[in-house]
Amino acid sequence: MASDMIGKAQDILRLNDRGTYTVPTAGLYPFQWNWDSCLSALGLAQLDEARAWTEIDTLFAHQWDDGMVPHIVFHQPDDGYFPGPDIWRTGRAIPTTGITQPPVAAFCVRRLFDRAADRDMAAKRARALLPKIHAWHQWFFRCRDPEGTGLVAILHPWESGRDNSVDWDAALDRVPVEGVEPFTRRDTLHANPAHRPTQAQYERFIWLVQCFRDLGWDNTKLHAASPFKMVDPGFNAILIRSCSDLGDLAEDLGAPEIAAQSRAFAARGIDAMDALWSNEAGQYLCHDRAIGALVDSPSVGGLIAAFAPVPPARASAIAARIATLGEAVNFLVPSHDPSVPEFDALRYWRGPAWLIVNYLIADGLSKSGEQEIVERIVRDSVRLIEASGFAEYYDPITAEPCGGGQFTWTAAMVLEFLTERAAAP
Ligand code: GLC
Repeated sequence: MASDMIGKAQDILRLNDRGTYTVPTAGLYPFQWNWDSCLSALGLAQLDEARAWTEIDTLFAHQWDDGMVPHIVFHQPDDGYFPGPDIWRTGRAIPTTGITQPPVAAFCVRRLFDRAADRDMAAKRARALLPKIHAWHQWFFRCRDPEGTGLVAILHPWESGRDNSVDWDAALDRVPVEGVEPFTRRDTLHANPAHRPTQAQYERFIWLVQCFRDLGWDNTKLHAASPFKMVDPGFNAILIRSCSDLGDLAEDLGAPEIAAQSRAFAARGIDAMDALWSNEAGQYLCHDRAIGALVDSPSVGGLIAAFAPVPPARASAIAARIATLGEAVNFLVPSHDPSVPEFDALRYWRGPAWLIVNYLIADGLSKSGEQEIVERIVRDSVRLIEASGFAEYYDPITAEPCGGGQFTWTAAMVLEFLTERAAAP
């Protein structure tokens, strides 16, 4: 049974392999996505270690001069996706978008390095990536935390990786729609429109893209100019964990300056994260930097926070909160609290369960010793695949598969859950 599932997961990785990068799924997402690629590399490593390193090298070959690593690299023209390069107009020879995504690269590189059978290749390739990843982290703190708070803001919901989360609703209401150029979505041709963001959200997504484009994608200006400025605990936890992992890696590879600065970023971030904790919600919440207030929205962003080395009491509280959520759903972890009216079991990031999220939370809570809830998260993840195959995301109550099928990072996470997790450092 497990070996059958492993075989199918490997087939999906091969199916979506375009030679030097993978696509998340053919049709709906025909290019290279930033955090999809990094997490998928963990699965690719089980097929071919060199190929896994190449996945990350390809992404970083498209890093901007200022250090930003874009959220999509448009390697090949494809009319099946909107918004394409003609909308972003970032002026790159091989087009990219002009925003970023959750920085899981350092975490993934460290994991590839720690597990590598080919130690020489791993050292060589990790050493080459070190300064690039560090430049990305420095870019974050320079351009997305200009006041030095220790936490960074995302300027577009797509940067969070949780595109249409309830977390953004109130802030998006403040984004104007005047001047949005008429557009035709393509996502709703590939996936059920009831499982996707709404048209009103898309108009605001595009307004923000046009706003940043009008500023020439100059990252020294975007933070001040954007009406959407959100400090997401999940996103920051990923950055903090990656800084911490990069610190360890840099030390192993003899780069003490990168190690010291990375550890300082991580320590400052962890301290600052505590301001996002809510006793009432029993979890971390987003902070809307545009209005200076916490966002009262019980989403999985505040649980992904466990991926960072948060204090043990916070990790235990998150484990307890997930256990409570587990009484309302059959499959952990729902992307939104089922007890609030905004919960929508089928609509993307407003309720469904995602395997990558399960993986990040399980990894963090496992490090904090919260084994019981980790076992349930892993079990539920495998049950979702058994019930519904390798979908993009799932109804956490019925396991209905949603969005795209034959999904690369879902397959990679299954390989992680079934084969590598036990061996994780
Ligand atoms: C959606 C997801 C995002 C992911 C992308 C490609 O936009 O919200 O997290 O990276 O699809 O799979």
